[in-house]
Amino acid sequence: MTLQADPPSSPAIGADLERLDGALKVTGTAPYAYEQPVEDPVFLQVVQSTIARGRITAVDTAEAEALPGVLLVLTHENARRVASTDDLEFAVLQEPDVAYRGQVVGAVVAEDAETARQAAALVRLTYDEQPHRVILDATSTHPDSPDLYKPAAVNPSFETDTEQGDVEAGLAGAATWVDVRLSTAWLNNNPLEPHTTVARSHGGALTVHDSTQGVHTVKGTLATVLGLPGEQVRVLSPYVGGGFGSKGNPHPHEVVVCLAALALPGRWVKYAATRQQMFAFTGYRTPTVQRVRLGADADGHLVAVSHDAVSQTATVKEFAEQTAVVSRLMYGSPNIRTTHRLAVIDVPIPSWMRAPGECPGMFGLEVAMDELAVAAGLDPVELRVRNDPPVDPETGKPWGQRHLVECLREGAERFGWAGRDPRPRQRLVDGWWVGTGVASSVYPAMSMPGNEARITALDDGCLEVGIGAADIGTGAWTALSQIAADALGVGVERIRLRIGDSDLPNASVAGGSSGTSSWGAAIVGAAGAFRVQHGARPAPGASTTAGMLDVPGADDVAQYSFGAQFAEVRVHADTGEVRVPRLLGVFSVGRIVNPRTARSQFLGAMTMGMSMALHEQSVVDPRFGHVVNHDLAEYHITANADVVDLQAHWLDERDAHRNPMGTRGIGEIGIVGTAAAVVNAAHHATGVRVRDLPVTADKFL
Ligand code: MOS
Repeated sequence: MTLQADPPSSPAIGADLERLDGALKVTGTAPYAYEQPVEDPVFLQVVQSTIARGRITAVDTAEAEALPGVLLVLTHENARRVASTDDLEFAVLQEPDVAYRGQVVGAVVAEDAETARQAAALVRLTYDEQPHRVILDATSTHPDSPDLYKPAAVNPSFETDTEQGDVEAGLAGAATWVDVRLSTAWLNNNPLEPHTTVARSHGGALTVHDSTQGVHTVKGTLATVLGLPGEQVRVLSPYVGGGFGSKGNPHPHEVVVCLAALALPGRWVKYAATRQQMFAFTGYRTPTVQRVRLGADADGHLVAVSHDAVSQTATVKEFAEQTAVVSRLMYGSPNIRTTHRLAVIDVPIPSWMRAPGECPGMFGLEVAMDELAVAAGLDPVELRVRNDPPVDPETGKPWGQRHLVECLREGAERFGWAGRDPRPRQRLVDGWWVGTGVASSVYPAMSMPGNEARITALDDGCLEVGIGAADIGTGAWTALSQIAADALGVGVERIRLRIGDSDLPNASVAGGSSGTSSWGAAIVGAAGAFRVQHGARPAPGASTTAGMLDVPGADDVAQYSFGAQFAEVRVHADTGEVRVPRLLGVFSVGRIVNPRTARSQFLGAMTMGMSMALHEQSVVDPRFGHVVNHDLAEYHITANADVVDLQAHWLDERDAHRNPMGTRGIGEIGIVGTAAAVVNAAHHATGVRVRDLPVTADKFL
């Protein structure tokens, strides 16, 4: 076989390739975790707490155990002790305490899934129930509330509070100012594929088929929690049906399935979360309450930006949404202040959901910017252009690439923004108020350290490229093959990619829009080392494992992607029904590896943003503490009929700062700002300013 000395004249990166896993997906033959063929499986069902706070005082498993086919009933009274309780989310079945309703407090394993489910309902638990608080409301968010505190840092490790200059002085001297209180709803991740885990212990080692965004993360967690050496745990996850962050870290079910597998050595234990269970213990987006104050001088230049955010966390474990972080860098101002506070209440543990922090935070900031534009009599595109900072306001570093203004200008052009009447409530068409709105998007360009890839020459002239990466529906199978092809100087058809196995070289999580950037850099690094080591004619069996190369000067610039989102909204004059006939985004994200899968990422995220704007809201019953609309019949999401004219465009660019491919990451930016664009358009249509999501019909009546 021969590797070309130079990349082929038409590089694979940038090619509009169909998904390499597309045929498997559409024929239903891609083996997801639960579909991995395993011999003689048994089935697990979890027992969930029926109170939101208290203690289990008595356990009666007699009836469950007596049911024919039941093999094992686990509670805190008989479960194996975990080796580490550093992360209490994973200290499952260790203590009788109950911290939220729906918590995993037991498990049953049976010969079939139906028996397991029936037996789970027969586990009798007696509780000492304590009073609980589960709603992020005026009581829990009041500055004097005993629930409220300042976390040491916000996700993942940002400063909690910042202040540059003096925002009070800036506001006092402002020609125009707004002081806006907004809220976003509790949202649950709803990947189509539920969370599933299939595990077997064999000679002390664990093999785990898991629906996860990161096999190495799960492996590490399970090894630590169960006290097993890392080499005794193997996690496989070649195909994943979505995660949106909820599969970015393990959750209690992975631990409980492995506790059961260790108690039943040799047997494959299978578990698939029900949709309802996914609303209880697999993570969710915290609701937020935000106060945004903006002041501008007579020319529309910001003189003060103040963003205070409150979100909720659980008593089991802290998760601090970094809601206000975006306001530190989005626009230039001599005075910028941000704060984060957490209300610790008796709820499940919040976690990552597509663009945690940026998504709810940019809702607050971008609605406030629209209100400021209205107050100042400035076009909202122009207000944003006027406040585009030449360097990162937070660090003073130059931008790697900041093309927000280009996105706004190109978006305005494509959307037909010119000539827009700035006055609200001017266009009534066939009984519908019609308006348009805009919002900016931002997302950091991240790369995770420690990624490695292995390149091996095969007998048939193909090259195997192995890395424990995850394709959660993003297109990673295809994009990584394209990156590998160019790095090795061969066509994509000669690349045999292997991902989703912790026996492959180390890969970071598919999160923070960092996957392609991090794994791709490792593949490029390994390909370079392979070519040096084995030359242009590698013998079959030649193999090299190597990692990412540093990009010189990467830390000297502020690395972010930007975008502009434009929405047209119609609100029915009589019923308040809200429609979004047009949504258009233009994004600056570095080089695009595959326009087909990239467009799919943008359109999917924008749809999810529209869904956040119009539909999604987990409704919690304060009496019992659980999400009552915990299924897809009642938890409404934007679906095909809601999406009409949806367009995603991007600037033609390369980023020299992040990785050797020139990419930045595209998975999350598309959801950032979408909800604000919809709200701003709804205000332009009706004159009604909705500050609390979702934008439902009642808000216009
Ligand atoms: Mo994403 S919420 O970083 O998996």
